Amino acid sequence: MSHQMEILEAASGLQRAVALLRAGDCVALPTETVYGLAADAANDKAVSQIFKAKGRPADHPLIVHIARAAELSRWATDVPDLAYRLADQYWPGPLTLLLHKAPDVSSVVTGGRDTIALRTPEHPLFLRILEETGLGLAAPSANRYKKLSPTTAMQVATGMQGEIKAVLDGGPCEFGLESTILDLTSTTPTILRAGPITRASLEDFLEQSVEEPGSHTVAVPGNVAAHYQPGTSLRVVRDDTLAGADDPSVCYLFWSGSAAEQLDAAGVEGARMLKLPGEAGEYAKRLYSSLHQLDAGGFEEIRVEAPPTGEAWAAVNDRLRRAEGR
Ligand code: TXA
Ligand code: MG
Repeated sequence: MSHQMEILEAASGLQRAVALLRAGDCVALPTETVYGLAADAANDKAVSQIFKAKGRPADHPLIVHIARAAELSRWATDVPDLAYRLADQYWPGPLTLLLHKAPDVSSVVTGGRDTIALRTPEHPLFLRILEETGLGLAAPSANRYKKLSPTTAMQVATGMQGEIKAVLDGGPCEFGLESTILDLTSTTPTILRAGPITRASLEDFLEQSVEEPGSHTVAVPGNVAAHYQPGTSLRVVRDDTLAGADDPSVCYLFWSGSAAEQLDAAGVEGARMLKLPGEAGEYAKRLYSSLHQLDAGGFEEIRVEAPPTGEAWAAVNDRLRRAEGR
């Protein structure tokens, strides 16, 4: 497919996206987290196109997006009461639930596993498309395998050019980081991927403990360390030497006042540096876009000031570790 990707405008393009999805094509759609590459989850040929467009190995399972919690039983079996309580509280929203898959669900979408990841996304355009098609939509982030996830339609158009027919433009994503993935198939709910819904929030709501093993110990395909990477090599600086010895081939991503002073003292200016907010949610929202921007600058290294640690920053730190390939 070598023709130009169609960039569909929100109002006029919605029906075109619906028609493409019904015909078994894949279309990039906005969600509140990142843009997803959507296709009919019950159509193996359509789902295979997602794997092909992304260059993603067939054993990396996809998240299936559904219109509402009542559809859980169509995709999953032995759905615990806990899943409905969580869906009721957090859906539509950035929480993905891992459950046992229903017997008639194709293992193409689950990467050969007997579990299935499900969520109802919060973006109004995505929700309308779920309603109008009546489908479950498989949708991984709309980037090539191991690359940065897109948070704008333009980033999708740049990263997936030649691979897919269309992207529906729903504006920049509200959260900017992928959903929290919570495994409900074992006795204790376990976070498989940190995200906008924190462990503390889940524990408060559930009044029970939630496990969050380090990202490196969980052997889930698609949850590999080297993931979410810009093309430019990225290094997180965890001490006070962000711009100690400045090098013109390096660009900088920082948030603190002391980093700003260091950069200023080193004479770094203009397009070689980007400042992010010091609040976790706002930082997360702009992280991928900032990395996309610096990545396009032709630098040899993106040097990132380590963000604060702690619960609210868990997802940000997780993605930066992976971007670093650690
Ligand atoms: O926010 C999000 O979750 C975005 C938007 C588009 O919804 N989607 C997303 O999908 O991040 P993706 O494919 O880039 O990441 C999904 C991850 C997989 O890499 C895998 O780690 C996990 O979800 N996953 C999906 N199904 C699974 C399963 N059956 N067992 C274990 N892990 C699973
Ligand atoms: Mg992804």
